[in-house]
Amino acid sequence: MNGSQPYRVAVIAGDGIGAEVTAEAVRVLSEAGRRFGIGLAFEEGLAGGAAIDAVGHPIPEDTVALCRRSDAILLGACGGPKWDRGPAALRPEQALFVLRKTFQLYANLRPARMSPPLLGASPLRREVVDGTDFLIVRELCGGLYYGAQSRTGAGDARSASDTLPYSAAEIRRVVRKACELARLRPRRQVTSVDKANVLETSRLWREVATETAREYPDVRFAHMLVDNAALQLVRDPTQFDVIVTENTFGDILSDEAAGVLGSLGLMPSASLGDHPPGLFEPVHGTAPDIAGKGVANPLAAILTAALLLRYGAGHEDAAAAIEAAATRALADGCRTADMAGTAPALGTRAMTDAVLARFA
Ligand code: IPM
Ligand code: MG
Repeated sequence: MNGSQPYRVAVIAGDGIGAEVTAEAVRVLSEAGRRFGIGLAFEEGLAGGAAIDAVGHPIPEDTVALCRRSDAILLGACGGPKWDRGPAALRPEQALFVLRKTFQLYANLRPARMSPPLLGASPLRREVVDGTDFLIVRELCGGLYYGAQSRTGAGDARSASDTLPYSAAEIRRVVRKACELARLRPRRQVTSVDKANVLETSRLWREVATETAREYPDVRFAHMLVDNAALQLVRDPTQFDVIVTENTFGDILSDEAAGVLGSLGLMPSASLGDHPPGLFEPVHGTAPDIAGKGVANPLAAILTAALLLRYGAGHEDAAAAIEAAATRALADGCRTADMAGTAPALGTRAMTDAVLARFA
């Protein structure tokens, strides 16, 4: 980016609460842009169920073209009960798979940090969860999500299969990314999660991860089986720094991480490849039950905006300012319904106003 060229953000609100929370993320990005002198240009595109309704396809060519000419993609969420019955290629989620694959967004970063004002929201005891601060790096372009699938037979002879392929190159690039990210963190520790006692792909994963870790002698590298990792996440989440794992394990463990923190409404994510555009999206999904009511928690989307500035635009100062403002709003007791308990709750827009008011 140079001074005269704005940083182009493709905004894909998608479905459910996607539209509401993405609008708030854009508002926060615009304010951050003003304060930190970052020229931002937003352009909207259709994907997911919204695109199926409008043009009959979850990810129209126009939207892919928009992403291709953008520096970053800000996405709300895709999916919903309305489109659940269609064939796989016409489901809203297909939009995510196409974007991940087209732009080779192989590293999905899902930071899980316990915000002190929300200690009480975690289902875990305070002394267990206090200090939790880890980063899941989920492989996002391979494994079961992209392996061959089949379905044959009838009646009780019906059978189905999914395949879980991984190449050494796919494993190496995501493990490298995890090690590089660990180098930026004080503990410099990576836990590679697999199921090497059962799965051949996991044995390859472990082999390649071990080779790759040798390139990073300053990073403390360890392996853990996925069932044990699931246990350790609730038993002692503070032991983790960076976790790197394959696509499906990462999907499951990242929801567990949200559960550990006590709100899925707080988890941002960044999906990165070796080149822009990266894709930035809150983890929470479409939440159809509360969509359109103006009550969704915008914090995951706002924190996603911070990741866009940090990992996409390279503006650490602006990213940190957004995160600090969100923490201050929480510390002052501002809560949306999902976090409020019996206390009065702010709506989506008011919660965002509370964050904007605390921008330092
Ligand atoms: C996620 C979601 C998606 C995934 C779904 C919506 C296909 O659960 O990003 O974690 O499984 O990757
Ligand atoms: Mg998931």
